[in-house]
Amino acid sequence: MVTTKTACVTGADRGIGLEFCKQLMDEGYTVFGGKYLHKWTFMEDLQKKYPDQFYIIPLDISDMESVKAAGEMIKGYTDHIDILINNAAITGKRIEGRMTIFDDLDYDQMIKVYNVNTLGPIRVTNVLINLIMNSQEKMIVNISSEAGSIGTCWRPGGFDYLMSKAALNMSSAIIHNSIFPTMGGQVLDIHPGGMRSYFGTTEGPDDEVNAQGRVVESMEKRAKQILELVLDAGRFRFDHPAFVTYRGDRIPW
Ligand SMILES: NC(=O)c1ccc[n+]([C@@H]2O[C@H](COP(=O)([O-])OP(=O)(O)OC[C@H]3O[C@@H](n4cnc5c(N)ncnc54)[C@H](OP(=O)(O)O)[C@@H]3O)[C@@H](O)[C@H]2O)c1
Repeated sequence: MVTTKTACVTGADRGIGLEFCKQLMDEGYTVFGGKYLHKWTFMEDLQKKYPDQFYIIPLDISDMESVKAAGEMIKGYTDHIDILINNAAITGKRIEGRMTIFDDLDYDQMIKVYNVNTLGPIRVTNVLINLIMNSQEKMIVNISSEAGSIGTCWRPGGFDYLMSKAALNMSSAIIHNSIFPTMGGQVLDIHPGGMRSYFGTTEGPDDEVNAQGRVVESMEKRAKQILELVLDAGRFRFDHPAFVTYRGDRIPW
C-alpha cells in the first residue's frame, strides 16, 4: 500500500494534465494518472522517470464502467487520495461566434460535451470520494474555465462547452456542501487561462499564440501556478467553494 501523499489526475495523457503529474511527483506525491488514448506514450516516458511514484490508470471519464474499473485499480494501491484533479475535458465547437441561437444547433454534440466535461468529473469524484475523505488534504480540484462563468458571460455562442463548465461549477458547489462542513473536505474550481495546449482552437505546445491571437503561456509554468494555489488551498477554505483564476483571483459564478 502506498503510504505517501497521493494525487489522482484525469486526462494525463498530455497537456497540462501530464504536467500536473510531473510536478506533483516533484512535490513528493505518488500520482495516479488517468490515461485516455493508447496512442500517446508521454505517460510511459514519465513512468520510466518515476518508477515508484507514478501509476498509469486507464480511464475514460465518459464511461461509468471505465471509471469504476479505474477506482478499483487505485483502491488496490492505496486507501487514500489527498488531491483529485479533474482535468480531462473536451472542447466544444469553436466557442466564439459559432453555435449561436440562430444556427442549426448540434444537440448530440452538446450532450457529448456535457457527458465528458460535467458528468465525467462527477463520476470520478463519486467513485473516489471515500478515498479522498480518508486522506489528510481532502482536496478536489475541478479544472473549469472562465467560459463557464454566468456572471461574466459575453459570448453569443458555444452552448456545449460554456454550459458544460457552468454545470461543472454547480457540481463543485454541491460536492463542497456535502464534504466541507462535517468532514473538512474542499472543492476548488480553477480557470487555467489560455495555454499552449492541444485543446480546442490551439495548435499544440509550440504555439506562441492561440487561434484568437492571444498570447498563451507554457503548460509547465501554468501548472506550477495552479499547483501553488492547490497546495496553499487553506486560504480558499470557505463555506462555498472558490472559483478562481490560475492567479488566485475570484471569478463570479
Ligand atoms: N487550453 C486552454 O486554453 C484552456 C482554457 C480554459 C480551460 N481549459 C481547461 O483545462 C483543462 C485541460 O485542458 P488542456 O488545454 O490541457 O487540453 P488537452 O491537452 O486536450 O487535455 C485534455 C485531456 O483530457 C483527455 N480526455 C479527453 N476526453 C477524455 C475522456 N473521455 N476521458 C478521459 N480523458 C479524456 C485528453 O486526452 P487525449 O489527449 O488523449 O485526447 C487530454 O489528455 C480542461 O478541463 C479544459 O477545459 C483549457
